Amino acid sequence: MKKTTLALAAALLLPLMAHAQDAQIDRKVAALMKQMTVAEKVGQLHQLSGRLFTGPTSSDYAAKLADIRLGKVGSMLNIKGVADTREIQALALQSRLHIPLLFGQDVIHGYHTVFPVPLGESASWDMEAIEQSAHIAAREAAAAGIHWTFAPMVDIARDPRWGRVMEGAGEDTFLGSAIARARVHGFQGKQLGATDSVMATAKHFAAYGAAVAGRDYNAVDMSNQQLFEVYLPPFKAALDAGAATFMNSFNTLNGIPATGNLFLQRDILKGSWNFKGFVVSDWGSVREMVPHGYAADLADASVKAINAGSDMDMESYAHIKHLEDAVKSGKVKMKTLDDAVYRILYKKFELGLFDDPYRYSVAAREKAVLADPSHRAAALDVAQKSLVLLKNAAKTLPLSRAAQKIAVIGPLADAKRDLEGGWVVEGDRAPVVSILEGIRSHAGKAEVSYAEACGAGCTGTEGFDDAVAAATRADVVVLVVGETWDLSGEAKSRTDITLPGHQEQLFAALKATGKPVVVVMLAGRPLVFNTIADQADAIVYAWFPGSEGGNAVANVLFGDYNPSGKLPITFPRSVGQIPLSYAQYSTGRPVTDEKNVVYKSAYIDSVNTPRYAFGHGLSYTDFKYSGLTISSKAMAPSQQVTLSFDLANTGKAEGTEIVQLYLRDLVASVVRPVKELKGFQKVHLLPGEQRRVSFTIDRELLSFFNSQLVWGAEAGDFKLMVGSASDDIRLEGAVTLLPSK
Ligand code: NOJ
Repeated sequence: MKKTTLALAAALLLPLMAHAQDAQIDRKVAALMKQMTVAEKVGQLHQLSGRLFTGPTSSDYAAKLADIRLGKVGSMLNIKGVADTREIQALALQSRLHIPLLFGQDVIHGYHTVFPVPLGESASWDMEAIEQSAHIAAREAAAAGIHWTFAPMVDIARDPRWGRVMEGAGEDTFLGSAIARARVHGFQGKQLGATDSVMATAKHFAAYGAAVAGRDYNAVDMSNQQLFEVYLPPFKAALDAGAATFMNSFNTLNGIPATGNLFLQRDILKGSWNFKGFVVSDWGSVREMVPHGYAADLADASVKAINAGSDMDMESYAHIKHLEDAVKSGKVKMKTLDDAVYRILYKKFELGLFDDPYRYSVAAREKAVLADPSHRAAALDVAQKSLVLLKNAAKTLPLSRAAQKIAVIGPLADAKRDLEGGWVVEGDRAPVVSILEGIRSHAGKAEVSYAEACGAGCTGTEGFDDAVAAATRADVVVLVVGETWDLSGEAKSRTDITLPGHQEQLFAALKATGKPVVVVMLAGRPLVFNTIADQADAIVYAWFPGSEGGNAVANVLFGDYNPSGKLPITFPRSVGQIPLSYAQYSTGRPVTDEKNVVYKSAYIDSVNTPRYAFGHGLSYTDFKYSGLTISSKAMAPSQQVTLSFDLANTGKAEGTEIVQLYLRDLVASVVRPVKELKGFQKVHLLPGEQRRVSFTIDRELLSFFNSQLVWGAEAGDFKLMVGSASDDIRLEGAVTLLPSK
């Protein structure tokens, strides 16, 4: 692509926002850099993993500590807690120039208090709650000596085989961008350097979520149009929200590893987007350019990474071993090295580490913050908001607390570790409430019995008879099934995303008792569970809901909390439909009648529609949409129109509806998806209450990248759709964009 086109595209995408650089810090960094040898500069680019991975007694670890003392290390990850961070920081301060270390950590969905996994939290569509959860995670981590989190992951992901769908905001660019902003604001607070905040990292730059066939670390091949339109905007949103750092990724993008990708890091990120923070590589991703077949050896990888704009090297030892020589031989310009070092030192000054290298590591604060009871209350709030009621036949839920018998069954019913999900920080975490415990403490007069039925993974059926007996004695069954925590996350790609082991068989045995069966499902990704979807009386998708998961699920089951979560990702019927998104293209042969698909873009053994669509999620009350008006049939490019409608709560419970606005550009120079999310609002209504809801539509909302990658809207007709889910559109309208004069 021509550079000019790219610059134009990026300039039109969103306004440029250079982070204001502070002249005073600038002078301090410059003065320090004048004193630094090339070796000391290279040291700032070297990041090592600490005790949590290496083990405190290994010789490898001892060598790392020696290097810290010599000023050969700029940052550590996997060191946490006030005592440890103080001990390690003290070593860095013994180095010639006393440059403090940066402590980074994967604080992904909580530190001490565990919040729902990011995909689950995204089902809340609640930006305040998401920001709050990131803020609390930051507050706890910062109190434990951590300066920097490797989050948020803003990769759009449309393939649930990929275990890392769990770590992001799902499949949609519009929703994902809003969540990226909320998370960055939550982690970083108002100002870097406040000791209740940490630096955020927008990762993994870029397109990692599109790894071929959902296999982790795999190649990515995509058009620039998809890249610009679907995958990059959440990164731009994170940058505009002030994200201090970016992490590049393991994958190649159109043949070039992201870590050595000049187009991504120099042209886009540090070029047209004018990013002033620094880029950290992913773990070993500099070294991995060798097996990729892009670098001849580690020395070559170091040169290619830094020249392409990757600043800090996480655990590849590429820069520390080879960069000094590369600068001497001219393969890397001093200017390039200086730029990388400048970016890192700037952040250390901004965090106040030169004034007080221990300012995040204060024992009394650590103790007080980790014990703050408001954090648990927030974890409960977010967990409740993230639960999705997928099905509720014959209003099986909510359950009554009157004198009845509830059999709680299943391998995950009393699980604790599984409620936390992957990517939690090792060590002393907040206690977890299991679903069984939650149900017991909320059950009122109801009598609760429990049968595990089978162990983790449900590999045997020996316990099924006892479970069936418990179900037979009960009035209603709550079956808790799903993935164990270690089946989602990094390196957890699966070709088969059905329920592991004999869990569907267990469901069938319980269902055969004739008792109503409510299924609570734990998972870090969309699973395939067709028998349960067809036959369960109710299904609550609970993701991995965190420390307060058991209470959150119980509140929903007994109706103390009316569920409002909506799916941030499509649930397929089978792996064969993947990748599947609501934002698909029409094709020249769209299916208009599922009964007649011959020579249509269809399968001969499955319908095209998903099991549960993006945006789906039920409530204990009903919402009626009516009275759509659009302020004008046509709009000039400089004008806006307002779309309004009435939303009424016609049921008996108070509840929250997440109303969704979709649009379709009917004819364009580049075909447009059949639906694109362009707005959403959470509306809380009492029974019988009605409110007028409005969305503003302007040219920006109608814009896309044309074949020249120029961002803009084309004159013509647009279909506007408002609904409760991407497959549950309640009202439709239209607007015409007039040509520019
Ligand atoms: C590899 C993962 O891809 C990345 O997301 C994470 O931050 C690093 N490891 C550090 O743990």
